Amino acid sequence: MALIAILPGDGIGPEVTAEAQRVLESLGLDLVFEEALVGGAAYHATGHPLPAATLDLAKRADAILFGAVGDPTCDALDRHLRPEQAILAARKELTLFANLRPAKLFAGLEEASALRPEVARAIDLLIVRELNGDVYFGEKGMRITPAGLRQGYDVMSYDESEVRRIAIAGFEAARRRKGRLCSVDKANVLETSQLWRDVVIETAVDYPDVVLTHLYVDNAAMQLVRDPGQFDVIVTGNLFGDILSDQASMCVGSIGLLPSASLDAAGKGLYEPIHGSAPDIAGQGKANPCAAILSAAMLLRHSLGLPEAADRIEAAVAAALGAGHRTADLGGSCSTQAMGDAVLAAL
Ligand code: IPM
Ligand code: MG
Repeated sequence: MALIAILPGDGIGPEVTAEAQRVLESLGLDLVFEEALVGGAAYHATGHPLPAATLDLAKRADAILFGAVGDPTCDALDRHLRPEQAILAARKELTLFANLRPAKLFAGLEEASALRPEVARAIDLLIVRELNGDVYFGEKGMRITPAGLRQGYDVMSYDESEVRRIAIAGFEAARRRKGRLCSVDKANVLETSQLWRDVVIETAVDYPDVVLTHLYVDNAAMQLVRDPGQFDVIVTGNLFGDILSDQASMCVGSIGLLPSASLDAAGKGLYEPIHGSAPDIAGQGKANPCAAILSAAMLLRHSLGLPEAADRIEAAVAAALGAGHRTADLGGSCSTQAMGDAVLAAL
């Protein structure tokens, strides 16, 4: 029996997570689900975006299915009380440092891509994003300069052990795929990136079978729309990975399609769509549940050791999309639930 923590969160999180849970339940596996509040929903109910009970459940669970956090009514709160802190703290507390964000074009979605069909068709890449360090977790604050001006600051840093463990995750992923790893940094300007690049090169010694290349992040962003088919695995830091993964999503048609896995060294994971809480369409049944459903597939593959079940879900999503079922983000008129139904029917 495996315990799955369900943390629906804010905005469209609950709607899409419900569809992903339905898909998991339909497989006849020995799973138990326990739900808890997170993000703005948790703040409004308990005064904290990641209550102790939620963190405790996340620690006890075999895997975590996460919706989204972000709530405009919380924008004026102190930063440590904002909904986003819940996911950042969960990633840190559980040492979920390796974030896998695959992007692949589903057949039939060529027209939805922001790129030309022949360019989009070649996309099959994986972004391996570091999740526990970088400017996200450095010292930050607001101060007054000697000239009396307000100044915000966020310190960017990585130590070599942090870089090495994500580099290893990148190399291992490349080894399981097509054997190509592109490390993305800004080593022409940033010391943090120079260390990143040095450590990635040192790590490469153990992976002679993987072809390693390097790109500066500005060039990587350009290459991602010019010729995304050149990428197999991209390994990068927390901030660059956040940005490039949103960009990759529009290359395959919609941010509503990209799942993610955030893993610790032992394979325990938190699984979440890369999209946010989308408050503008929350509660209207418009959200695309595919990213959440595909996150559930990643959960089965990476945390529960059930690759066949994961393959079945991914095939069912592909079949549903291939048959023309589309939510509004892809130009269709399916509701969130109808899209979930189409995936379940394909299963
Ligand atoms: C993501 C999100 C988060 C991040 C936010 C919600 C804190 O954008 O998972 O990509 O920046 O990591
Ligand atoms: Mg993001």
